[in-house]
Amino acid sequence: MKGIILAGGTGTRLLPLTAITSKQLLPIYDRPLIFYPLNTLLKAGIKDILVIVSPDHSGNFLNLLGSLFRGFGINISFIVQKSPRGVAEAFILAEDFLDGESSTLVLGDNIFEDDFTEAIQTFSEGGRIFAKEVPDPERFGVVEFTSDHSVLSIEEKPEHPKSSFAIPGLYIFDHTVVDAAKSLLPSSRGELEITDLHRYYLEKRSLDVRVIDGAWFDTGTHESLFLASAYAREHRLGERFHPMVNDALREFNMEFKKIVSLKK
Ligand code: DAU
Repeated sequence: MKGIILAGGTGTRLLPLTAITSKQLLPIYDRPLIFYPLNTLLKAGIKDILVIVSPDHSGNFLNLLGSLFRGFGINISFIVQKSPRGVAEAFILAEDFLDGESSTLVLGDNIFEDDFTEAIQTFSEGGRIFAKEVPDPERFGVVEFTSDHSVLSIEEKPEHPKSSFAIPGLYIFDHTVVDAAKSLLPSSRGELEITDLHRYYLEKRSLDVRVIDGAWFDTGTHESLFLASAYAREHRLGERFHPMVNDALREFNMEFKKIVSLKK
């Protein structure tokens, strides 16, 4: 199982914050946002991770993550997405990196409290996605269930949602996902939609949807960015990170301070 973090995009909803840096590098309490999806993957035992970034901010991602896990047995690779052509394009960009293996994609602006170790390690084929009950499902992909919990429909940001279950940005797929993504057509907004990929697997009867309980934030708005920071502080999310991530961060900070003092 390999990991992908989609950390490109333009972040226009967060202007002016995103005029100077990438959304996924903005702070969530005491660390950049991207550490949260990174931690989610590392916690689940994934050691090989591709970070997809936009051309404007690629250098910042490299400076922050490029050698962070050197000596920890973790491999972080980078690829540039020239323009934001949709979440599902991540799998096409990752084709060489995946090299026929299964993958877990996490959106770089999503924060999860849940631990996905079991869901990722027991995955075998098709697709596995998640559902979380929210008060504002129209902001997200929405999944509708029948009374016996099978999936009835999946829609992207419907004006009139058929349920209150949003589909958070963590998706597990087997090796067939690259060809599946290549078979999609751009939506009316010109993007390869992740929900079209979900429907592709749903039609093949190979999509598993699990409801999650823990807190989940899509930090795409000023309000949700602020609420995520407040939650991270109050619930000490950073302290609950995989110890390796916090060790790597401590080393990074020490090395940074050393370089600063040498420059003086
Ligand atoms: O957060 C969960 C939601 O994420 C899902 O419920 C939706 O089904 C899914 O489409 C997505 O909706 P968003 O409107 O939140 O997606 P957004 O455009 O904000 O992109 C999500 C992340 O992926 C963000 O960190 C930017 C990055 N991205 C996005 C696109 C479209 C890229 O790096 N490249 C892209 O082409």
